[in-house]
Parts: sequence; structure tokens; C-alpha cells
Amino acid sequence: MKQITFNNGNQMPMLGLGTFRVSDGETLVQSVKHAIEVGYRSIDTAMIYDNESSVGQGIKEGLASTGLQREDLFITSKLWLTDYGKENVEKAYLTTLEKLQLDYLDLYLMHWPGTDEALFIETWQALEKLYEAGKIKNIGVSNFTEAQLEALLKVAKVKPVINQVEYHPVLTQQSLKAYLKNQDIVMESWSPLMNGEILKNDTIIDIANKYKKSPAQIIIRWNIDTDVVVIPKSVTASRIEENIEVFDFELTKEDIEVINALNEERRIGPDPTEFDGK
Ligand SMILES: NC(=O)c1ccc[n+]([C@@H]2O[C@H](COP(=O)([O-])OP(=O)(O)OC[C@H]3O[C@@H](n4cnc5c(N)ncnc54)[C@H](OP(=O)(O)O)[C@@H]3O)[C@@H](O)[C@H]2O)c1
Repeated sequence: MKQITFNNGNQMPMLGLGTFRVSDGETLVQSVKHAIEVGYRSIDTAMIYDNESSVGQGIKEGLASTGLQREDLFITSKLWLTDYGKENVEKAYLTTLEKLQLDYLDLYLMHWPGTDEALFIETWQALEKLYEAGKIKNIGVSNFTEAQLEALLKVAKVKPVINQVEYHPVLTQQSLKAYLKNQDIVMESWSPLMNGEILKNDTIIDIANKYKKSPAQIIIRWNIDTDVVVIPKSVTASRIEENIEVFDFELTKEDIEVINALNEERRIGPDPTEFDGK
């Protein structure tokens, strides 16, 4: 599995499994287990998805059936806005670990900046303490704009390793992307397939036909070829397999540019400068 290196020297797989909009249950347990069996080494969840217990069970079953060790996997979860504030962070982290049946996370993210700058800074400082105590391998943010990161970086002792943001061909966030590259912060995409919408785009279908790949594989490869960590979600065994079969080809520079040109700066999710979790 292709890896990307963080500003602290640690590494993360370029491809992982997303788990949003799937509640706890056997479907998710089997999906996570299947993903590990077919080669996924990174799983993305969050407290607010209300599925950490099943993700944890899937990890346990996947490790048992493959003989892999915990250290072979890279597990991400996210702190929700209602758990921000220095008195709440460690408790929320421990609850997440308990649900996942893990004793550490590889990556813990502040899920959204929220609208209270002082609060996200205080929360980050609490995460820094957990990181410095060796309780979390890496800490990062999600849905931060350039301005919100600037505010955080002014006071941060530990730089975020990653910013997980909405990114797909109609929202390529070129300015944020250049800023993150300059700051040595990895970009990670959420809703890379636009929940399926972008798979019906004629340009993507034409490129897929040319490479004899599926539209989803083209989008996933475009993420990897543009240095963006990608976590497509699926609970369908055949799609989980399809989405990882992207390491036997690369897109040409010209085709990357054709996909980049689909950009409309159009979001399907909330505006990070306004979203307060409600
Ligand atoms: N940080 C944040 O604020 C944030 C926000 C949103 C998402 N995320 C993370 O990012 C992950 C991915 O985003 P997402 O779940 O919103 O959407 P997504 O990955 O863009 O799309 C998932 C949808 O695409 C379908 N799909 C997957 N592979 C396919 C394939 N090969 N062919 C056709 N359809 C396919 C899935 O269907 P089936 O499952 O039915 O197969 C599902 O309906 C999430 O799961 C979550 O972990 C983070």
C-alpha cells in the first residue's frame, strides 16, 4: 500500500475505508473485516457516526482472520464539537478507544473548526497534551479553512499532520491545497465520490473507458496522483474490492488536468466557516 509521510515523520496509507452513514451493525462489522482481508490498512470513523463499536468489532475480526497485528493498521477517529474544551477531550478520547476496543488511535482529528476560535484552540492544546504523552500517534484537523489554520498555527506547539476536507472533481480547493503543501500538512479528502454523483459525469466515464477502469477507480487514482489521502466509503463487498484495485495504473498529467478542470468550487457539505454542528 502506497504511504504518505507526515511532517512528524510518521506515515499513513494513501487509501482507506470510509464509514460515514452506516450505523452500528453486522453490515459494518463485515465490511470492515472484508476491507482488511482484501488489503485495506486504514479505516476512518468518528464519534458522531455512532458506529465505532462495529468498526472496532470489524477490526478485531479482520485481524483474527488475516493474522495481522494492530500495528499493521492505521485507525482514525474524530472528536465532535460537543466534546470540545480542555475538560472534555481526554474523556471523549477514552470513550472512543473503549468503543473501538483499542488502546491507541493512529490519528485523532478535530472534526470541524466550529465558530468559536478560542474553543478550537483550547481543544487543540488538549490534544497536544495527549499526543505529547504518547497516547495518540498523530493529531490533525478536519474541515479547517486556511484562515482557521492560520489562527491555530499561531499558537500550536504541535502542527496538525493532516486536514481532512471535502475534495472531489467539482471542489478541488486549489488555494487550500497549495497552502497545506506549503505548510507540510497532508490533505485528505472526504466524500471523494460525491456520494456517487461524480461517477455519472461524462468526462469521468470517458476517462474510465480509456483506462479500462471504473469511474470510482479513476476518481480514487486522481486523489492519489494529486497527493491527497482518500477514504471512499462502501458497504458493498465488490465495491470495497474495486476501490482498492487502483495501484496498477497512473493517470497521465493531461488526464489529471482534464479532471481538475471540472472544478466548480461546489460543496455538497456545510461551509466550514459557518457550521457549528447543529
Ligand atoms: N470529516 C468530515 O467532515 C467527513 C464528512 C463526510 C465524510 N467523511 C469521511 O469520508 C468518507 C467518504 O465520504 P462519504 O461516505 O461521504 O462518500 P463517498 O465515499 O464519496 O461515497 C460513498 C457512496 O458511494 C458508493 N460507492 C462506493 N464505492 C463505489 C463504487 N466503486 N461504485 C459505485 N458506487 C460506489 C457507496 O455505496 P455503498 O456503500 O452502498 O456501496 C456510497 O453510497 C466517509 O465515509 C467518512 O469516513 C468525513
